[in-house]
Amino acid sequence: MSLDPCDEYDALLRAARALVEWEEEVGGAGFPAVEAPPLPDVRVEPTVTPPAPVESAVPRREPATTAVRERPAPASAQREGAPSKAARLALLASEAAACTACDLHRERQKSVFSRGSIDAELMFVGEGPGQQEDLQGEPFVGPAGQLLDRMIAAMGYARDEVYICNVVKCRPPGNRAPSPAEAGACRDFLDGQIDAVRPRLIIALGRSAAERLALVPESGRWRGEFGEYRGITTLATFHPAYLLRSPEQKKVVWADLKRALQFLGKSPPTASR
Ligand code: URA
Repeated sequence: MSLDPCDEYDALLRAARALVEWEEEVGGAGFPAVEAPPLPDVRVEPTVTPPAPVESAVPRREPATTAVRERPAPASAQREGAPSKAARLALLASEAAACTACDLHRERQKSVFSRGSIDAELMFVGEGPGQQEDLQGEPFVGPAGQLLDRMIAAMGYARDEVYICNVVKCRPPGNRAPSPAEAGACRDFLDGQIDAVRPRLIIALGRSAAERLALVPESGRWRGEFGEYRGITTLATFHPAYLLRSPEQKKVVWADLKRALQFLGKSPPTASR
C-alpha cells in the first residue's frame, strides 16, 4: 500500500499528538512506575480451527454497519469455494443484525459488529455497545471510544489498523454489563470473529470481556493476566469507561499495553517534545 506523503505526514502527526496527550495523562514518557510482570511463555500454534460455517438458517439481510477493510488474500488462501474472510464476517454481521436470541434485540437501533481491519494483528474486545454505538452501528465511538483511540494511537497503531468488537452486539439497557446469558447468546458471533480475523493478540477490555475470554480465575486478579482463547493469546486490562471514572488507573493500563506491544515485538513510538 503506498500512502500519499501528505496523508502519511498527517497520520504521523496525529499519532505523535495522541501519544503526547496520552503520556501526559499517564504521567510522563517512558515506562510507568508500575512493575510489569514478565511476559507469559505462550506459544501460539498455527490455527487448526475450521472456519465458521457460512451456511445459515438466518435469512440474509444487509450487513450491520461495519468498517472493515481487507488486504487481498494470498492466492494460497483462496481455495476454490472457500468463502473469504470478508464474506464470512459480512455474513456473521448480517446474522447479528437479524438476531433475536436474547432480549437485547428489542431495543436495538443498530447492531454493532466491528470496526477496523479484518487483517489486524491486534483485536480489542469490549463489553457491549453504548448509546452512541447503538445509534451509529459502530463500536467505541462515544467518550470511552475516544479514549480507546488515544490508547491505540499511543501504541503506534492507526485507528483502523486494529480490529474492535464487543462481547454482545446489541446495547444492554442503561449501559449495564451484559449478563452471562446474553454473552452466551452472542457467543457464536464473537467466536466467529476471532476465528475469521485470527489476530496475534486479543486485549479484553474490562471484566465482562475478560470473563468471556476465560481470563478471570475463580478468585484473584484478572487485570494484566495473559491467557489463551481459541488458540489466540489474550490479555485483560481495564475498560476505558472505567478509566474515565478512575484516571489514576491509566498507568497500570499503559503498563499492560506496553506488555502487549512487547508480546507483538513492538515498542511504543517515541514522541519528540
Ligand atoms: N463500551 C464497550 O464496551 N463497547 C463499546 O462499543 C462502547 C463502549
